[in-house]
Amino acid sequence: MNKTLKMLSLVTVLSIALLSCSKETVAVKQGETNMFFKDKKVAIVYFSVSNNTKKFAETIQKLTGGDLIRLEPVVAYNSNPNEVKQLIADAKKETESDVRPEFKSINFNVADYDIVFVGYPVWWYTLPMIFYTFFDTYDFSGKTIIPFNTHEGSGEGGTYSTIKKWEPNATILEGLPIRGGNMAKDQTETIKKWLNNIK
Ligand SMILES: Cc1cc2nc3c(=O)[nH]c(=O)nc-3n(C[C@H](O)[C@H](O)[C@H](O)COP(=O)(O)O)c2cc1C
Repeated sequence: MNKTLKMLSLVTVLSIALLSCSKETVAVKQGETNMFFKDKKVAIVYFSVSNNTKKFAETIQKLTGGDLIRLEPVVAYNSNPNEVKQLIADAKKETESDVRPEFKSINFNVADYDIVFVGYPVWWYTLPMIFYTFFDTYDFSGKTIIPFNTHEGSGEGGTYSTIKKWEPNATILEGLPIRGGNMAKDQTETIKKWLNNIK
């Protein structure tokens, strides 16, 4: 084989390899990304103290490419894992007295989005009161809300229908509850399966 011929066959082999590579990448991407989210503006708004819901939110962000927004209280909760009793008592008091804890300013304008994921841990069989404040603040009429949550036994605990009641003019799609303890392991496959079934 002369030099030119060798060069030509090398280029051919490399081109075929590269072409099949790029085809594979596209195929994987299409399989992973639900077309439902294509060309839609997506936000993921979440609240988390011990980071289970944070991990969940970050996985949704990776899979949808949406804007990740953390809801943080002006007055921080006790997040010391050795003082969880304190957090539980404080949250109980808040729920019982139906307070609306203020949240720090967030870069979120509901009009900018088509789909908003909202994520939270179940606290005292309902949403943390900071999400009561959140839903008092924004009007989701005409928007799509997709709830997700972590818990330690309550599942979604009726919180998805609470959101439906608060936002009667929004479309609330099928949510996903995951046990907080399971977030120690990667939940990408479970989350991907759920997202791919959303229509
Ligand atoms: C104040 C408080 C109240 C909770 N109430 C419930 C509950 O009613 N039902 C339940 O299944 N889990 C409950 N849990 C467990 C949390 O939902 C669970 O640990 C969650 O994964 C924590 O999320 P985070 O790590 O994002 O903060 C509660 C936890 C705390 C701290």
